Amino acid sequence: MIKSIILAAGKGTRMKSDLPKVLHTIFDKPLVGYVIDAVNNTGVIDENFIIVGHQAEKVEEYVNSNYSNSKCLLQTPQLGTGHAVSMAIPYLKDFTGEIIILCGDTPLITTETLLDFIKFHKDKNSDITVMSAIFDNPTNYGRIIRNSDNSVNSIVEEKDATETQKAVKEINAGIYCINWDKVQAAFSELKNNNAQGEYYLTDIIKWGNEKNLSVNAYILSDNTEIYGINSRANLAEASKILNTRTINKHLNNGVTIIDPSTTWISPETEIGSDTTIYPSCYINGKNKIGSHCKIGPFAHLRGDVTLEDYVKIGNFVEVKKTTIKSHTNACHLTYLGDSEIGANVNIGAGTITANYNPLTKVKSKTIIKDNVKIGSNSVLVAPVTIEEGANVGAVGVITKNIPAWALAITRAPLRILSDWVKNHN
Ligand code: UD1
Ligand code: MG
Repeated sequence: MIKSIILAAGKGTRMKSDLPKVLHTIFDKPLVGYVIDAVNNTGVIDENFIIVGHQAEKVEEYVNSNYSNSKCLLQTPQLGTGHAVSMAIPYLKDFTGEIIILCGDTPLITTETLLDFIKFHKDKNSDITVMSAIFDNPTNYGRIIRNSDNSVNSIVEEKDATETQKAVKEINAGIYCINWDKVQAAFSELKNNNAQGEYYLTDIIKWGNEKNLSVNAYILSDNTEIYGINSRANLAEASKILNTRTINKHLNNGVTIIDPSTTWISPETEIGSDTTIYPSCYINGKNKIGSHCKIGPFAHLRGDVTLEDYVKIGNFVEVKKTTIKSHTNACHLTYLGDSEIGANVNIGAGTITANYNPLTKVKSKTIIKDNVKIGSNSVLVAPVTIEEGANVGAVGVITKNIPAWALAITRAPLRILSDWVKNHN
């Protein structure tokens, strides 16, 4: 199995934030989480070393509580990308396989590309493979310098580059695959005699050539995959790129998305064909939406939502941690949280599941069985169960379980006082 090293010790000054850069989120998932997931989903990488430095404890807490196969290693002070990788040496003493090196602030890299990259490395019998990309504006990136026979010679950083080198449009994407057995010696030989006084990881390319190793570059086809986050503007742009990618996938799979420009769908949401997503929906977290559903306009799915086929979630409806069976409608102005809702249920406009008790801070479940009708403006105070076929009259405040096929009414009877208005003028 392959192992990965993910560099995430940098400060991220331009984020102007109390949070370390790699904990900034897209769809509530930290950037470094995207990189770890892309790596783990290859199925060929069994252990990740995350190099942490700036606000290390916070990054470590996130990684430890979400990824059992990932270990954070502290790099302090941060003396460069080559120095960062060397933090893993004590943990890889007896390891002889392949190591993939990535950055924690490039969340858009895909599992497919990583697999293709690894395949390229193996097919070429390569010892050091660097991922490169062709950029019209290569400013600030390391440039890939090739020999006259097109083989890779070295990587030169912008700050160390000559004018001729700066004109090169092939850049270092910052992702590498190395044969650890052959390349680990490089890390004790790196020098910091460069413009930034850092130990550059990129110098392993030249080192490899000096040792007659096989050094290659894999040219990336979709440059957005290595989009790096350095600022809030970058974060917004990366979110948009990821969203567009997700929306295109659903469009190709037979989902109608009326206005992709106002629709947000997290990458971990599955949607069945012939479902329509109306404009201005925000679908966050992990969800499973069936076929022939109608969502929105202006719906908010907050994660852990499962909708079977033919479910309607209408305007200003918020749903979280809820399962809804087929042919159930919640069409207007509703909150459904921590709920299990059956088939053929009608949730009237303005219905709220009161799932949270702010005094005890406990969240409880609402269970609504098949064929139930909930009248408009009802409050279902959880924990509560509405058994099969029961009806709740409009403005019901339901604090007890309702038996099957019963009608529950809690509102005061209507009184009509004849001529009351006339008599009071
Ligand atoms: C690096 C590459 C450059 C490449 C670019 C791609 C080097 C010397 N240069 O430049 O060729 O085009 O990435 O984005 O590698 N980090 C640490 N510890 C350190 C220094 C950095 O963990 O001591 C981490 C950072 O948090 C970041 C990553 O390494 O995630 C890259 O570092 P950064 O300073 O952004 O390098 P670049 O100058 O962008
Ligand atoms: Mg960078």
